[in-house]
Parts: sequence; structure tokens; C-alpha cells
Amino acid sequence: MKFKTLLATAMMGMSLMAAKAMAVDLSIVSGATGGDLQFMQDELAAFAKDSGINVKIVPMPSSTTDQFGQYKLWLAAGNADIDIYQTDVIWAPQLADQFVDLTDAAKDVAKDHFPSIIQSQTVNGKLVAIPFFTDAPALYYRKDLLDKYKLTPPKTWDEMAKDAKTVLDGEKNADLQGFVFQGNAYEGLTCDALEWVKSNGGGQIVEPDGKISINNPKAIEAIERAKSWVGSISPKGVLAYQEEESRGVWQTGKSVFMRNWPYAYALGNKDDSAVKGKFDVVPLPAGSGDGAGSAATLGGWNLAVSKYSKHAEEAKKVVMFLASAKVQKDNALKQTHLPTIVSVYDDADVKKDQPVLVKWKDVFLAAVPRPSAPTKTKYNEVSNKFWTAVHDSLSGNGTTADNLKKLEAELTDLRGDGWK
Ligand code: GLC
Repeated sequence: MKFKTLLATAMMGMSLMAAKAMAVDLSIVSGATGGDLQFMQDELAAFAKDSGINVKIVPMPSSTTDQFGQYKLWLAAGNADIDIYQTDVIWAPQLADQFVDLTDAAKDVAKDHFPSIIQSQTVNGKLVAIPFFTDAPALYYRKDLLDKYKLTPPKTWDEMAKDAKTVLDGEKNADLQGFVFQGNAYEGLTCDALEWVKSNGGGQIVEPDGKISINNPKAIEAIERAKSWVGSISPKGVLAYQEEESRGVWQTGKSVFMRNWPYAYALGNKDDSAVKGKFDVVPLPAGSGDGAGSAATLGGWNLAVSKYSKHAEEAKKVVMFLASAKVQKDNALKQTHLPTIVSVYDDADVKKDQPVLVKWKDVFLAAVPRPSAPTKTKYNEVSNKFWTAVHDSLSGNGTTADNLKKLEAELTDLRGDGWK
């Protein structure tokens, strides 16, 4: 008996040692927005138990622009320390050569995702990244404040500004803002400004056929409209806000309206939030005149395996796990992140606990892509020049008309004899 126990213990020890020897340690980089890191850590801990694959998270700043700059450097240097990258929807054409092809790994599940997202992550037949969640913004509004002033959620930007002013004038609270958004000079401003321009009938900066369209009267009008908010219904400081700064103001109850992505919904309804139960979301407002209509920029994040990883096979397993229906459902329930797997929207728990996501699916389906496909490897420069022109205009650094004229010339130069 004693001998048997000893033997069993020794055998257990040996199999543990074998498992340890086989255990693999990987690294993933992930931006720290809202509760993303904690969520990923919990999912990866569960995965490690079953698979013996341990994944360390290397936290990155929340700004996609800062992440992109760092990742480009690491990838250019062939960094083998990072196995998995969480990638923005706009990066695929620019980083395609640095990641392994996931076509085989995803062959049984790719059809479960929205085809347009799989397509956005496919470059010359290579599946560069597997979708993790998708993103489309909405207008967050304070139900209690709108009710108090007998207002209904605005359908146009001008109504939004008017309603914000009505509430601000009525509340006489110096701490309260009318509207917060992402006005910092970075990719987030490209998203917001594309919405202003597109919703005013002013096009998509560069059209799907590669034509540079940004220098037009409707685009100028849309940016001038946004400029009129800064220092009136929006704080001057909005010119330095990214997503998390806007959410900070909003979630402490200090703004009537906010433009933000779905993640702010779950966080806004947590117990520690001053706006819990007091807000709702509607599609972003429309501009005015011909061609005006609500427009939401398409966002979203994916998972890619570095070509320089020494553990690409294990890394593929990790990304397929994180992109699975199970994790996407958890992400929908806990973080109101929009699934990329169609069936998760029909899941009974999702419908019951986060019904807002079912409404939000329609906003996503109609979302406008940024011009990363037509401008190919030049997208980051295009976007950088666009957000700079917009930020200058909002700050009163040159007129909007001059800034967009200059932008058109710069983009024409950048394109040369065709986008490559
Ligand atoms: C969100 C979107 C992403 C976008 C970023 C801009 O994270 O998902 O696509 O680039 O916001 O700040």
C-alpha cells in the first residue's frame, strides 16, 4: 500500500515534470483600454490550465497610434520576444508581411465571422489576423437630463449642439460639459472627423477607388461645425482627449453627450459609475444638406501571430482560442465588445443581459471603413495628415478651407502615380 502510494506520487511528479518541460511561455501585446487587460488575463489563465500554454501580457498604451509606432519598430527589428499582436482593423495592409498566414488555422471557423471583417484582414489571399471584436461608435446621452428638459435624443449634429446648450444653460453647473469626443491629434480624431465629414455628405477622405475627395465644401462645413463646439459645448481640453479621457468626464457624470465605442457602455453601468442606469445610446447624428445621414466609423481589433515568433504553432492556438465564440461571448457580456462571430448576437444570454448589442449590430453593419484598403501601405501617413489638418482647424491654426486644400496637395504627392 505504502509502496503503491509512493509509486503513484512519483509518477504524478514525473508527469508534472513532463508537463512543465512541455509548457510554453508566450507573450502578447495588448492596448490597455477600459477593462481589456483584466479580461484578457482571466481568459488566458483559463486557457493555460487546459493547454499548458502560458501567455504573458505586455501592456501597451491605449492609443492605437502609439501602439502602431512601437509595433512597427519591433517588427522591423525581427523581435522574437513578442509572439502575438492585438491589431487594429486598419493595420492589415501595412503589416501583412510581418505576420504568419492564419488561413489554415482558421479554416473551420472563418465562415462563422462577418465576411467583411475576414476580408478586411485578408491581404493578397493571406489571412493576416483573426477577428477578436468589432467596433462602431454611438452617441451616448444622459436620459435623466434630456427628460428634465423635455428633449428627445438628437438626430442631427445641430440639434445635439442646441440640446447640449439648453441643458448647460438650465443646469448652470460649471463642471458640466455638453459634448465630449476624441479631439487629440491621433487615429481617434481620424475616426471622429470621418464621421463628421461623411455624415455631412462630404465623402470618405479617400474614396474606395483611390480618389482623394477631402477638399470639398461639405467637408469644410462639417469640420467648421465641430470647431464651433470647442470652447462652447465642449471643453477646450477636448483637443487633448482620447477615448479614455472622454469616458472619464462622462462616467463621472460631467457631460450630457459623448461620442464613444461600445466598451464605455458596460463600464458606464458598473456600480462605481456616476451615470449607472442614467444613460442610453443612439446612432451618431447626421449633418445637414444633400447626402447627409448618420455615419459611424468602423473600428475593431484582431489577433495576429508574429513571423518572428519561435512558437508560432502554439501562438496560433492562443489566437484561435481568444477569437472563439466562447471568448467573444464573454467579451460581449462583460465588456460590451461587439462580437465578430455572427451567431453570438443570437445567444440567449447575450440577448438577455446585453440587449443593446443586438441594436448595435445594425450600426456596425452600416459602418464606414477608413480608407486603409485603397491607400494600402500609405494609410498611416494619410491618416496622420488628415488628423493633423483637422486638429489644426479645430485649434484655429489656419482656416479649415486652407488646411483641407493643403491636405489635398499633400495626399496627392503621397499617392504619386498610384497608391501602393
Ligand atoms: C478603437 C477602434 C479602433 C480605432 C481606435 C481609434 O479602438 O476599435 O479601430 O482605430 O478606436 O482611437
